[in-house]
Amino acid sequence: MEKLIKGIPKAELHLHIEGSLEPELMFELAERNGVELPYSSVEEVRQAYQFSDLQSFLDIYYAGAGVLQQTEDFYDLTWAYLERMHSEHVRHVEIFFDPQTHTDRGISINTVITGIYNALDDAREQFGITSFLILCFLRHLSEESALATLEAALPFRDWIEGIGLDSSEVGFPPENFERAFARAAENGLRKVAHAGEEGPPEYIWQALDLLGVSRIDHGVRCTEDQKLVQRLVQKQMPLTVCPLSNIKLRVFDKMADHNLKKMLDQGIRVTINSDDPAYFGGYMIDNFLATQKGLNLSEQDIVEIAKNGFRSSFLPQDIIDSHLKSIDEFVLQQRNSS
Ligand code: HPA
Ligand code: ZN
Repeated sequence: MEKLIKGIPKAELHLHIEGSLEPELMFELAERNGVELPYSSVEEVRQAYQFSDLQSFLDIYYAGAGVLQQTEDFYDLTWAYLERMHSEHVRHVEIFFDPQTHTDRGISINTVITGIYNALDDAREQFGITSFLILCFLRHLSEESALATLEAALPFRDWIEGIGLDSSEVGFPPENFERAFARAAENGLRKVAHAGEEGPPEYIWQALDLLGVSRIDHGVRCTEDQKLVQRLVQKQMPLTVCPLSNIKLRVFDKMADHNLKKMLDQGIRVTINSDDPAYFGGYMIDNFLATQKGLNLSEQDIVEIAKNGFRSSFLPQDIIDSHLKSIDEFVLQQRNSS
């Protein structure tokens, strides 16, 4: 099982690049940029990562992002993540970034996007990892701010595949961002949104019906509404589930309580992702391993979830098909060698 999980070709569709900032790099960048950190050591930082809910995490996550200042900082952050993905047999990534977290403290969107994009470009060349960038609006800020952020990003339209919606969920429903999502669609951008992580099923309905998203990020609270489950199954609407994140943020008490297997068995298109791996204790392989163990997933479940990652991506269909074929080949080869 472990060999299958480690080696199977994977796609990651729910990853906040700011959430891949490891404490070691945080210290390095703090020194490079002369930023004072409220921690004296890497161990102290790790010890601070005890969260009670989404907000308790976001407070620390936005503070950590303060060390990111120059193009090379965003490059180094993204490159470290991609090197790790290369070692984990992740072949395709769709990465979120939060421009407002940076522009609100005086960093230009040009600095942010250029640093991230150059690393994606180098990883395509050196590792053959393909990638898309998804610009996320912070939902605790206004729709005007989201619209202004979108306008500021349009000069980089060719580097951006889609838009998303993240940050504090409860009290900030998707309906607040209808105009911003419509404007993004006018520019041919794809749409996704975080919904149903801490927020109610109603937020998932809104993301589908008012924003017109083509994936739901998290979405685990869908199982509280059987009509919604039917809709997700019927449309084969992907959910980008992040199991270790859900445990760390207390969405579920322990992995054995997670509803991922239940959703999979109901026919929902479930994928496994890492969300903010530096904060939640694991990248893609760790998420697959912990979920398999906690929910006793079968090899067939693992293969299906890995395939769902590619099926739910924004890659062209012929490329998706070639990844699905390479998964089948990998599974066959594994069987023959064991
Ligand atoms: N939810 C909402 N916003 C976020 C998350 C998350 O899991 N991670 C980073 N920003
Ligand atoms: Zn997320």
